[in-house]
This record gives sequence, structure tokens and C-alpha cells, in this order.
Amino acid sequence: MPVKISTRNIFKNYGAVEALKGVSVDVHEGEIHAICGDNGAGKSTFIKILAGVEQPDRGEIVVDGKPVHFDSPHASLTAGIATIHQDLAVAPEMTIYQNIFMGAELTRNVLGLRLLDKPAMRRAAVGYMAQLNPSITDMNAKVNELSGGQRQAVAISRALRWNADTVILDEPTAALGVRETEQVLDLVRSLKASGKTVILISHAMQDVAAVADRISILRTGKNQIDLEGGDLTADNLSHYILSGTGDRFH
Ligand SMILES: Nc1ncnc2c1ncn2[C@@H]1O[C@H](COP(=O)(O)OP(=O)(O)OP(=O)(O)O)[C@@H](O)[C@H]1O
Ligand SMILES: [Mg+2]
Repeated sequence: MPVKISTRNIFKNYGAVEALKGVSVDVHEGEIHAICGDNGAGKSTFIKILAGVEQPDRGEIVVDGKPVHFDSPHASLTAGIATIHQDLAVAPEMTIYQNIFMGAELTRNVLGLRLLDKPAMRRAAVGYMAQLNPSITDMNAKVNELSGGQRQAVAISRALRWNADTVILDEPTAALGVRETEQVLDLVRSLKASGKTVILISHAMQDVAAVADRISILRTGKNQIDLEGGDLTADNLSHYILSGTGDRFH
């Protein structure tokens, strides 16, 4: 598959802290690409740069072969990249469909007035959720009635709403139990099955090994090693992260 997103030598300092010291990653179209590494390795900083939340000090981002400059989250979204941050930013008191359309509500004109088109939003929400979690059918349910895995489905539906072709998930299973984790991994698989490119940040090596096509491990703001296909077992990954080297696993 062609390269969808490529970063070249991304550097980012926060004051005196060198968070990224030359990160280069090629994310291939239609693949699930995991970014791993120990606490403080620079994973979230890297994702914030792809999401337009932070700007790199140096380095280049190329999307579909064209250099891009994301000076805002909106610029990243417009380039087809939707990021689901770890805190999700869902509104628990609001309904599923309101969450999916937050900031991008559908409207209709009635006698010259612009009114919210709730039926259209509910219908569209059913369509998005059906792709991800067919067990959720009531779009009027409040998000605070949902499980953690179901909330992830709502957050991912919002990404689908933006027609993103790349979805970034930062630690989507961090707070979840075993069954819910399985649900979220299924969500990740269904994103891939629908042709999306997925970037997954995770501490959970089992999860990464279960779904990723390719993995980049970061260490102190640099690439440590890139792995693909057959190299991906939880033991292997832990070895690379703990040993701090790119040596092959024996
Ligand atoms: N806003 C900030 N101001 C100052 N330093 C920061 C800021 N954000 C991150 N850092 C520092 O940059 C480095 C990389 O942090 P980052 O959050 O990207 O790592 P991470 O790999 O996501 O870690 P974790 O696994 O703990 O989430 C760390 O040393 C961190 O303390
Ligand atoms: Mg982080």
C-alpha cells in the first residue's frame, strides 16, 4: 500500500525539554500503525503534531505525497485526519447523536429559519454506529449511560462524521476491562475493514500485537525500531521497549 502519512525528522522542544528529537514514521494507507514506547517517549507529542494541536520546531509532514503544515486542529481534520484524544472529550450529559454532530450540526431551512435537523442527525448517527457497534440503536441515549467501549464507538463515529480517512486513537483501551478492550479492538479492526488508515497509541502490548500491521517504537523522542507482520508478539514488543535496543529478540 502507498504511504499515507510520512513524517521526516520531527523535532519538538517544550522549553528545555526535548520531547521529539527526529521522529520519522511512514504510515501506509489502509494499515493499522501502532506507536509504542515507554512513558515520556514522545508518543502524545507526536500525535499532537499530527493532530495540529502542537507545531513541530523542525521537520516535515507529508500527506498523500504533499507537504502539509497543520497550524490548528481544523487544518488536520481538513486533511482527513481525525484524532480521538485519550480523554475522548465526549459530553456525557448529551445524547449519542448530539455528541457525533457536536460542532458540525445538520440543519434545515424552515420558512427562512435555520433549524437543527434532528431526524437527519439521528438517521445518520444510526448509520455510523451500525458500522461500529450494531448493538447500540437508540441515538437518544445519553453518553453517560454507555460503557467505556461504547463511548469509544461514539467518539469514533464522530471521526467518521468528518469523513476522515485516517483515524488516530490515543490509548483507547487504557481505562477498560477485558471485554470492553475486545470491543474496542473490534472497532479498530472495523475501521481498517472500511478502508481507513489507523494510528493507534497504546501501552498494552497484547492489544498492539493483536491488531497492528506495523509498529514504531519511540524512545526518548527518537525512533528505536520499526516492526511489521511476523515480528509482532507481545513478548517481542516488551523486549524491545524494556531492552532499549533495536536488537533482535531471541
Ligand atoms: N506541555 C508540556 N510542557 C513541558 N513538557 C512536556 C509537555 N508535554 C510533554 N512534555 C514532556 O515531553 C516528553 C514527552 O512527553 P509525551 O507526553 O509526548 O510522552 P508519552 O510517550 O506520550 O508519555 P506517556 O506514555 O506517559 O503518555 C516528556 O518528557 C514530557 O514530560
Ligand atoms: Mg502520552
